[in-house]
Amino acid sequence: MNLVDAIGEPALVRTVWDDGRTARFHHVWLRDNCACTECRHPTIPERTLDSITVPLDIVASSVAVTGGTLAVGWPDGHRSSFGSAWLAEHAYEPGFRPVVDEPRTLWRAADLAAAPESDYAQVMGSDEGLLGWLLQLREFGVSFVRNTPTVPGTVIGLAERIAFIRNSNFGLLWDVQSKPQADSLAYTAVPLTPHTDLVSRTVQPGVQFLHCLVFEATGGDSTLVDGFACADELRRSDPAAFDVLTTTPIPYRYHSDDCDIAARGPMIRLDPEGELDEIRYSNALMAPLAVDPDRMTELYRSVRAFTSLLRSDEFTFRTRLDPGDVMTFDNHRVLHGRESFDPQSGPRHLQGTYIDRDDLLSRLRLLGALAPRSTTKPA
Ligand code: OGA
Ligand code: ZN
Ligand code: ZN
Repeated sequence: MNLVDAIGEPALVRTVWDDGRTARFHHVWLRDNCACTECRHPTIPERTLDSITVPLDIVASSVAVTGGTLAVGWPDGHRSSFGSAWLAEHAYEPGFRPVVDEPRTLWRAADLAAAPESDYAQVMGSDEGLLGWLLQLREFGVSFVRNTPTVPGTVIGLAERIAFIRNSNFGLLWDVQSKPQADSLAYTAVPLTPHTDLVSRTVQPGVQFLHCLVFEATGGDSTLVDGFACADELRRSDPAAFDVLTTTPIPYRYHSDDCDIAARGPMIRLDPEGELDEIRYSNALMAPLAVDPDRMTELYRSVRAFTSLLRSDEFTFRTRLDPGDVMTFDNHRVLHGRESFDPQSGPRHLQGTYIDRDDLLSRLRLLGALAPRSTTKPA
């Protein structure tokens, strides 16, 4: 798509494209987005122009299109130029850019019969292998990486294929095994109902990795549930509960000897367009609820309605990890859990780590799989 003409009008510049479409750009917007080396640092990818110094009522003194480039002159002699591709990418004219559907497939247990999986050597060995894995994570919110060496610490290298590790009070790499003086229910043998991790932090980790090193114990099957599919179902089946859970901040807290971490957030967060954006749910870390007394019963009822979907057989995918499997999942969308196991029957040892959502999206953009300006969720 190429720019063919531009007409200066009092408030804006109307651009005309070779397919006959038009897109309006305000003068102040064009001046503000000048990409010359005076307005953006020549080597640092940041703007140096102070936006507030551009007069709101600035008007271009000249506009011209040559060879698909829009050249704009300003009253003080400054000149800006904008290429067709850049303008098309950033046009804000309604309907100018096609709406790209999220490549997101919501699933129920039966849909995941053949779980999305990738091969460790391929993920580590080529960009295609890496991208294949990340596209599964983005579409389904989960992918099992198979044939990973059962060498402690290996999961760090896998995560670093995407980006640097996200640290927490549990460390960069944490061992999930039944141990004395555990500081998390995960480090015992009790069942874990579906949850997202680090709910009591303002920003939950974006991608979680659970690497199975040793698994000889009986029990301990893993569960996964698509929180977006459950939220979508709740929106349909119980709109009142959906409304409560998208608008009521739920308090979470993790308080041990060395840290006291607390955050509040809706159980189902919507983005500004009203699309599902994040699930924040952990029965274990929910702090005492605090809402107006007139709303408490309705809040409990709503949490239960969502909880029953999250725990229903219809939505719960069950699997037993084998040594060499890494369960990787979108911790803003897919909840995970495990059944209890018998530590007397044999060892069970997983290692886990996290990265942030921003870094997954960054990797997808660098691999050309996400529009540069898109803030689209991974899944
Ligand atoms: C965790 C967790 C699940 C398991 O460590 O966050 O939920 O299978 N573990 O042990
Ligand atoms: Zn400039
Ligand atoms: Zn967990």
